[in-house]
Amino acid sequence: MDIQKIRRDFPLLHNGAGQKTITYLDNACQSLRPSSVIEAINQYYAQSSACSGRSMHRLAAEVTRSCDQSRSAAAKFLNAGRKEEIVFTRNTTEGINLVANSLNLQKDDVVLLSDKEHNSNLIPWQVLSRKKGIAIRVIPSHPDNTFDLEAYEKCLDNKVRLVSLGSTSNLDGTSLPAAEVVKKAHQNGSLVLLDAAQAAPHYKIDVKALGVDFLALSGHKMLGPSGTGILYGKYALLDQLDPFLVGGDTVASSTYDSCEYLPPPEKFEAGLQDYAGIIGLGAAFQYLQNVGWNAIQKQELLLNECITSGIRNLPQLKIIGPADPKLRGGIVSFYIEGIDSHRIALMLDQMANIAVRSGQHCVHSWFNAHQIKGSVRASVYFYNTIEEATLFVTSLQKIRKVL
Ligand code: ALA
Repeated sequence: MDIQKIRRDFPLLHNGAGQKTITYLDNACQSLRPSSVIEAINQYYAQSSACSGRSMHRLAAEVTRSCDQSRSAAAKFLNAGRKEEIVFTRNTTEGINLVANSLNLQKDDVVLLSDKEHNSNLIPWQVLSRKKGIAIRVIPSHPDNTFDLEAYEKCLDNKVRLVSLGSTSNLDGTSLPAAEVVKKAHQNGSLVLLDAAQAAPHYKIDVKALGVDFLALSGHKMLGPSGTGILYGKYALLDQLDPFLVGGDTVASSTYDSCEYLPPPEKFEAGLQDYAGIIGLGAAFQYLQNVGWNAIQKQELLLNECITSGIRNLPQLKIIGPADPKLRGGIVSFYIEGIDSHRIALMLDQMANIAVRSGQHCVHSWFNAHQIKGSVRASVYFYNTIEEATLFVTSLQKIRKVL
């Protein structure tokens, strides 16, 4: 991989808007975007700017064709059986809410979660618990925060209707053995929803090989436009579900007191959609495929090793998750006893133009349970360089000296 060539594709990395070039290590929140994605969005607004699937004129026909191409690209990206298994959403959160509100869970049905789920995969179930009386069961992780397969198996019983798990954690970068998790859930007669927001940007996902029932991802963490996402669902399951949001373009016909829904995915895509976003997302899939998963993972590991070895011995610094960077993907999340994580993040920004995220990363439940106030999270992507990782390390060393 020619990293300098890749960096030239990302406007924020080579012109820095006239400022000192940023070291962007907040990729688990949102990635940067290559010119091809930005151009695809611009092209929509400059040259078509119309609706998909409604009007008969040529601009609309072009948008319909482009959106359909993005759906096919998404199906290919995930190895879905057919493009109708791809529902466009605004983000992973919306995908999970769609499943939560459409699955018709009943009182005492159990939804199985891990002890470090993002709020997106916790709050929708808490609401269902209050509204319908479903139960949430939480699988404890190993002491090093990795997934405990034995604890998981112990949690499976005939009340578990759905296993809903983050496949890679935004807190510490660890991944669970997804194929094994799905197999065991299915043996138990439970469905599986994977929150792949942090996995899809970094690993090949093959929904057919996994056998997963539902999988949600966000486009903005994988070079796509902000506020874009996908919910994959097995067609037979999507077909049975009632839609969550209803209205324009979800029905084949309606009378004053009834309606007939369109088949999936249309019945789940209510109202005018983010066509520019959908088209931009297609360009993002293309870009990632051109880079290739091996190159992506190799670079991320190199960067994670560099950061981990450079900071792990700083006084009072604790890395969240396993010590081995191989188990933490692109994430190094840490805290320094007695020092506010936001203060460190602000100093990194002000001193060295380094962007990281600090705080509780929408995993308040884990931080509260562990009585930790927050962490600083450096999250890398394939366009980050060893020089940037080293700058992060030396900047943190300087900060540690003065705080
Ligand atoms: N879930 C995103 C993050 O971890 C927003 O930063």
